[in-house]
Amino acid sequence: METFLQHNPTRLFFGKGQAEQIPAELGEKGLNVLVIYGGGSIKRNGVYDSVMNQLEKAEANVFELAGVEPNPRLTTVRKGVEICKNEGIDFLLAIGGGSVIDCTKGIAAGAKYDGDPWDLFTAKHPVESALPFGTVLTLAATGSEMNSISVISNWETKEKIGWGSPHVFPTFSILDPANTFTVPENQTVYGIVDSMSHALEHYFHRTPNTPMIDGFIESLLRTAIATGPKLLENLESFEHRETMMYLSTTAFNGTLSNGTDGGDWASHRIEHALSAVYDIPHGGGLAIVFPNWLEHVLLDDPSRVKQLAVNVFGISPDGKTDIETAKEGAKALREFWSSLGAPSTLRNYDIDDSQFDDIVKKTFIKPGVGTYKKLDEKSVMDILNRSL
Ligand code: NZQ
Ligand code: ZN
Repeated sequence: METFLQHNPTRLFFGKGQAEQIPAELGEKGLNVLVIYGGGSIKRNGVYDSVMNQLEKAEANVFELAGVEPNPRLTTVRKGVEICKNEGIDFLLAIGGGSVIDCTKGIAAGAKYDGDPWDLFTAKHPVESALPFGTVLTLAATGSEMNSISVISNWETKEKIGWGSPHVFPTFSILDPANTFTVPENQTVYGIVDSMSHALEHYFHRTPNTPMIDGFIESLLRTAIATGPKLLENLESFEHRETMMYLSTTAFNGTLSNGTDGGDWASHRIEHALSAVYDIPHGGGLAIVFPNWLEHVLLDDPSRVKQLAVNVFGISPDGKTDIETAKEGAKALREFWSSLGAPSTLRNYDIDDSQFDDIVKKTFIKPGVGTYKKLDEKSVMDILNRSL
C-alpha cells in the first residue's frame, strides 16, 4: 500500500426526512442563502417545498439561481458568482444532482476570486478560499455530494474540465433516498453506470498489496449488478434507491483510493472530451467508452481485467488464456449495461468519427491520461474507433 491521509470534512446525513437537519447545519439564523437548482424537477416532486420549509425555520434570506444545465456551464457559474458578490451571500445550498452541485462548487470558489472563474478551473489561478455550501442530493451518480471535485463546461471553447480543491468539500449533504424516486429511468441507468465507473477507475491501479480495497470495490460492483435491475423494475423502491445512493457516494468520496495510486481515470477523460463536443449525458458516454477501454488495455496486460471477470462477473478462467477470460469480462460489463438500457456505441448518439481528432486533442486538455495504462493520442483514437 501507499501512505495515505483519510480526511473528508463533509457531514453526511443519510436517510428519510434528513432535510430537517438544515437549520442546525446552517448554524445561525438570518443568513443570506443562495439556493441553486436545475431545470425544475425539484419543483415537481416536492423537494423544493420541503427545503424551503427548513430555510424558513432558519429565517434565511433566500436568493435563487435556477436553470443549472446538465453538464453545467461556465456562463451559469458566472451568473451565480455575480449574485453572491452583489447580494452578500453567506451560504450556498445546492438542490439537485452532480451538475447542480458542481456548478455550486464553481460559484463558491468564484465568489471569493476577483478574476474570471474559468481561471480557477484551468489552474491559471489557485483556489484560495470558497463560500461554504451544503447539498441536498436528488440523483445518485457522481459522488459530488461528498467530494471536492467539480466538472464545468465552457460552451464557447467546447471544453469540459474537471477541477478540485479542498476548499470545495460540501460542509454538509442531505441524502434522503426518497428524493430520488422521481429520477427517470434513463437518468437512473446513467447513475448506475457512473457509480460503477468510479469504482472501476479506482480498481485499475498499480499499487501492490491492496486486498482490502480491491475486495471492497469488487463487492461494490457486485452490489450494483444485483441492485440495478431490481431498481429499474420499481423506481420508487426505497430499499433499492438507498442502496444505490450509499453506493454512489462511497464510489467517489475518497474511500476507494485509500492506500492506492488513485486509479486510472482515462475513461473519464475521454468521456469528458466527448461530452464537451456533443453534450451527451456523462453516464451514457461512459457506458460506451469504458468497455472499449478495457478491451484496449487487456491486450497489453490482461491480469486486472481477468480478475474483474472472475471476481465480479463470476466468469470461470478454466481452460482459457488470461486474454480470453479478460475479454469475456469486458463483454460482460458491456452486456450488463446494455441490459439496463444504456447505450453501447457512439452511433446510439448519432456520433461518427468526424470529430475524433478534436476529441483526442480535448482528452489531453490536461497532460497525463491514464495511470494503469498511460495513453498516447494513438491509444485514445483506438478506443474511440472501438466505440463506433
Ligand atoms: O435539472 P433538473 O430539472 O433538476 O433535472 C435533472 C437533469 O435533467 C434530472 N434530475 C435530477 N434529480 C432528479 C431529476 N429528475 C427527476 N427527479 C429527480 N430527483 O436529472 C438530469 C441530470 O442531472 P445531472 O445533475 O446532470 O446528472 P448527474 O448527477 O449524473 O451529473 C452529471 C454531471 O456531473 C459530472 C458529469 O460530468 C456531469 O457534468 N461529474 C461530476 C463528478 C464529481 N463532481 O465528482 C464526477 C463524475 O465523474 C462526473 O464527471
Ligand atoms: Zn463519472
